[in-house]
This record gives sequence, C-alpha cells and structure tokens, in this order.
Amino acid sequence: MAAMNAPEPPIQVQAAARALLAFWRAAGVDMDEAEAVYAATARPAPARRPAAPAATPIAPRPAPKVRAKASSAVDNAGLLAKAAQSVAGLRAAVEGFDGCALKATARNTVFSDGVDDAPVLIIGEAPGKDEDEQGRPFVGRSGQLLDRMLATIGLSRQSNVLISNTIYWRPPGNRDPTPGEILTCLPFVERLIELKQPKLLILAGKAAANTVLKRDEAVTRLRGRRLSYNREGLAAPINTMVMLHPAYLLRRPQEKRLAWADLLAAESWLDELGVARIAQS
Ligand code: URA
Repeated sequence: MAAMNAPEPPIQVQAAARALLAFWRAAGVDMDEAEAVYAATARPAPARRPAAPAATPIAPRPAPKVRAKASSAVDNAGLLAKAAQSVAGLRAAVEGFDGCALKATARNTVFSDGVDDAPVLIIGEAPGKDEDEQGRPFVGRSGQLLDRMLATIGLSRQSNVLISNTIYWRPPGNRDPTPGEILTCLPFVERLIELKQPKLLILAGKAAANTVLKRDEAVTRLRGRRLSYNREGLAAPINTMVMLHPAYLLRRPQEKRLAWADLLAAESWLDELGVARIAQS
C-alpha cells in the first residue's frame, strides 16, 4: 500500500513506474502501483552504476557433421546466403529456398519483421501458428508480450528493432525443430547477423542462444552476461546478450524479475552504445 503522505515521485520515475507496471501486468502479474514506483525508483542510477564489465568473447563452436543429404541442403543454403548482399536480398533467398522440409507443411515463410537497418537485432526460435498464418515473426501471444517488454526500454519493431528467428517455417504442431532443420537454416541466420552487424544482438531463449552460439547450455548460464560474439565473416565482434523467451514468461510469470533484469541490462548497454531509443511518455 502507498503511504498516505508520501511525496509525489518525480515525473521520470512515474513514467518508468507505469512502463514497469504495464510490463508486469502483461506478464500476468498484478501489482500495486506504489510497488511499481518503488521498483522503478530502485533502478540503479546511471551515475552510480558500477563500471560495466567487459563483454565476454563467445566464439561459436564448430558445427557437428551432418548426413550427406542434409549436408547438400546446408551447402546450398550457404551459397544462397553468401550471395545475398542485403537483408531484402537474404529474405528473397530464404523465400526461394526449398532445402528445408518444413517449407512443405508451412503456409508461409516467416523471415523477419521490423526495420531492416535497425541497430538492434532480436532472434527467436521458430514461428508458431499465428506467425505461420501472417508470415511475420512474433505476432502471437508471446510476440505481443515481447513488444510490450521492448516498449518499456524504448524499442519497437516500427523504429529500431529487426526481429527474426533461427527457423523460417513452422514445425508441424509446434514440435521442436530437428538438428538437421536447424543446421539447414543456420547459414541464413549467420548471414543476417553478418549483413546487419547490429549494435546489439539479443537472442531470445535457450534455443536461439544455443543455435547461434553453437552451445548446449541452460539459458540461465547464458543470460545476464555481456557477450561478444565473433566468427569468421564478421567485420567486428558483436555485442550479444541472451534474454528469457517471452513464451517461457507466459508459462512462468514468476520469472518476471529475471526478465526485467534482462531488459534493464539491455537498456544500459544500449545507452552506452549510444543507440537512440523512443522516449517514454
Ligand atoms: N516464438 C519464437 O521464437 N518465434 C516466433 O516467431 C514466435 C514465437
């Protein structure tokens, strides 16, 4: 409960509190407005933040060997991806690619949504039913939560974010993609990162993190760290972080604190990188 005679918090704190409140409500958690004001006030002030830790270099591990048939699809994907010289060209290459069996059962190719030259690139896992129907990533419930989460730190697919996935066609019944399907799409994913060379790459959830970083680790070991992703073909290492997947938050709203911490970590990194964000009202 708010104290009756408590002084009115400053305007910026009230705006941050409203954003935080909206985010927690979206995550399915009811919260007293005064608590949100408290939580927003409790954000570390920029001047008092400890010196940011250096980003940890994280080189992807070598890809595992794949069977011959899959390997020719992977090679073909690699050639097409390499030939693409822009995000639009890469989108066309993915749309014309027939080497992933998932395409046969999907309604649409789901490549990306947002601003092609945005400073922030977010990569999720695979399209679901809504995404398959609309041909755009993250448009279902988890996508709507993602949009609300991003809005709390001044990011949106209308202005400064490009969103994509590690798989471009819906796996039937939303099953997990197979290792072969993942490897077949990977050259396009890697080329997207290379073409965009984003200021910040955000990997949403365990599957995206392990696919891009070629690891097999719990998301809890990867999130909360500043990573520096590097591999051959990149002009420079890329600032990278891992966040909890919004679909996971819909299932486990009790993890909202970690999600909020991920957002604040992204916000302060973006500030340091000088990435323009939308002012919050
Ligand atoms: N989950 C994802 O990882 N990607 C989408 O596009 C939708 C839901």
